[in-house]
Amino acid sequence: MIRIGLAKGRLCESAIESFRKLKFNEVIDLKSRRLVFRDDENQVEYILLKPSDVVTYVENGVCDLGVVGSDVIMEREETVYELADLDFGKCKFSIATMRNADDIMAMDSIRVATKYPNVARNYFKEIGKEIEIIPLNGSVELAPLVGLSDCIVDIVETGSTLKANNLVIVEDMYDVSARLICNSISYRFYKPTLETWVSKLKEA
Ligand code: PRP
Repeated sequence: MIRIGLAKGRLCESAIESFRKLKFNEVIDLKSRRLVFRDDENQVEYILLKPSDVVTYVENGVCDLGVVGSDVIMEREETVYELADLDFGKCKFSIATMRNADDIMAMDSIRVATKYPNVARNYFKEIGKEIEIIPLNGSVELAPLVGLSDCIVDIVETGSTLKANNLVIVEDMYDVSARLICNSISYRFYKPTLETWVSKLKEA
């Protein structure tokens, strides 16, 4: 039985679609509150996890494989073994601020609200800008509107959340997409099977 951790949320349906392409049975019912789903015929078990927990479960060997966004992998700053870029869940990390704000990149110290403090800290360090991180857990677009921060660092997919909150992109930072990650011991154990899966996923 190969256990796969799937990130709940925006990637989940596309991740399920990927495994359907491998001719696996569709056993996951996203409407239920269940977290564990078994496909006995194909000897696969799926567990649904918070995105950042996918990395934890894979690293600890509880999951053999995981599907998670590269945004989460970057923020965790841990070395995970990436088997494939799954080419969905594409978005980007961007810096955004209020439509009519002054040039925030010219400020001496920039207050940055974000769910991704490590990604933000590393980026601004690379470009040599002083910042103060304001860590938030969600709805970060609110922070500049109410004066909590000068800008946000967040993932942008369609741009509709920024637009709806009168924010504009100042700078794009990094591309993001869904990744198939693997536990290194599981990789050695299931190598032929996993290599077949990856090539089928790439073909599909
Ligand atoms: C993510 C992200 C943005 C939004 C971007 O939030 O943090 O808020 O999606 O998507 P868009 O460009 O298509 O509008 P998510 O939906 O994960 O919710 P959260 O803020 O509660 O984490």
